[in-house]
Amino acid sequence: MPSSEEWTDPAHVARYRQRAASEDRPVTSDEALLEHVPAQARRVLDLGTGDGRLLALVLDGQPHRSGVGIDFSDLMLAAARQRFAGMQHVELVQHDLQEPLPQLGTFDAVVSSLAIHHLEHERKRSLYAEAFELLAPGGLFANFEHVASPSQRLHVEFFAAIDEPLECEDPSDRLLDVETQLRWLREIGFEDVDCHWKWRELALFAGVRPPRGAARAHGRAQIAIRIAQETDWSSIWPFFNEIVAAGETIGYSRELHCEEARELWLGGPPGRTCVALGAAGEVLGSARMHPNRGGQGGHIASATFMVDPAHQGRGIGRALVLDALDWAARAGFRGMQFNAVVATNTAAIALYESLGFEIVGTVPGGFRHPVHGFVGLHVMYRPIEQ
Ligand SMILES: C[S@@+](CC[C@H](N)C(=O)[O-])C[C@H]1O[C@@H](n2cnc3c(N)ncnc32)[C@H](O)[C@@H]1O
Repeated sequence: MPSSEEWTDPAHVARYRQRAASEDRPVTSDEALLEHVPAQARRVLDLGTGDGRLLALVLDGQPHRSGVGIDFSDLMLAAARQRFAGMQHVELVQHDLQEPLPQLGTFDAVVSSLAIHHLEHERKRSLYAEAFELLAPGGLFANFEHVASPSQRLHVEFFAAIDEPLECEDPSDRLLDVETQLRWLREIGFEDVDCHWKWRELALFAGVRPPRGAARAHGRAQIAIRIAQETDWSSIWPFFNEIVAAGETIGYSRELHCEEARELWLGGPPGRTCVALGAAGEVLGSARMHPNRGGQGGHIASATFMVDPAHQGRGIGRALVLDALDWAARAGFRGMQFNAVVATNTAAIALYESLGFEIVGTVPGGFRHPVHGFVGLHVMYRPIEQ
C-alpha cells in the first residue's frame, strides 16, 4: 500500500492510536546518556566530574568498570572523594581543563556533564579532539551540556523555566549552540554524531570514535590521494585562490597571481605535492610537503594543506595529513612542524591535535585576520616514529 494511503487503513490507524496512547516516551538526559555507553565499556573518564554524580551513575551496577574523574575544584573533589571513599576502581585527578589533558591511558567512554561550557570555545574544540585521541576504537564521547539558545528571548525563557533569576547566570558560562559542537565532532573524526536529548538549553550530544579500520572503509574510501600533475593545476587553482584570497587561514599574499601560485605549489623535489580525489576523480584538496629547513634542520618536514571549502567535513584534510605523515616517515624525517597555524582556524587545530600534533609555541598577534584582527599564530609539531 502506498504510504500516502496508510492513514485510510483502519488497522494502521487503530494500531497507531493504541501505541500513541500507551507510549511513555520521555527519558531523562541521564538515561539517554547511559543508553549510549557501550555495555562492554571498562574504563570511563568524566571531564569536570564535580562531586562525581555522573561518574557514579555510569559505574553503578557495572562491576567490570573503572573510572577516572577530573576536576579543578578542591571543594568538588573533596565531595567526590567522599562519595567514592574506599572504591579502588575510581581515581580522581585534579586538573584544569583549560590545559591539555594529562597522560591518563585509553578509555572506552569519555563523558562529561555541565562542565565543558565553562571553557573558551577554542578550548572546547581542542578538548573534544583530545577526547577522541584518548578513546579506544569504538569508544563513546558523550557530553550533557548547557548550550546556547538561538535567541535572547529563548535564553530568558530558559532561565524562567528553571526558576533561576537571569542575574544569577554563571559569569563563567560560555554557551555555544549545539549545531556547531556537532559539526566539530564530525570534523574531528567522530561518527554517529547526534544530539540524543534536548530541552531548551540542555542537550546531550555524542559521537563514537570509529572502530579500527572503519574510518578508511567509511567516508574516506571515496578519497584517493596521488602525486599532483601539472594538469591538475586548473582544478586546484579555484579553491586555492578562494582560500588565499579570503586571507583567514594562510599567510600567502591575498593577491597571489595564478602563475606564481602554480610555481609555489607544484615545485619539484625535495618537496612533494599531492591531490585528494573524489569517487569520480575530481580534485577535492591538495597538499604541499617539504623539508622545513635545509642543512642541520633538514630532518624535520613541513606541509601545507588546502581543502576545497565546498567539500569540507568529508575527511579530506585528515586523509591529506595522514598521507603527508606517511611520506615523511618513508622519507626518514624525524618530525613534522607546521610553522603558521592561525589560532582562529580551530578546525585545522583540532584535526592536527587529533593526529598527535601539539602547539609548541604561539606568536601573539602573529597573523592579521581580516575579521578578527591580530590573532595568534601557532607552531605545531609532532615527532615521527621511524
Ligand atoms: C555544574 S558542575 C557539574 C559537575 C558534574 N559533572 C555534575 O554533573 O554534577 C561543573 C563542574 O565543572 C568543573 N569545572 C569548571 N571549569 C573547569 C575547568 N577549567 N577545569 C576543571 N573542571 C572545571 C567545576 O569545578 C564543577 O565541578
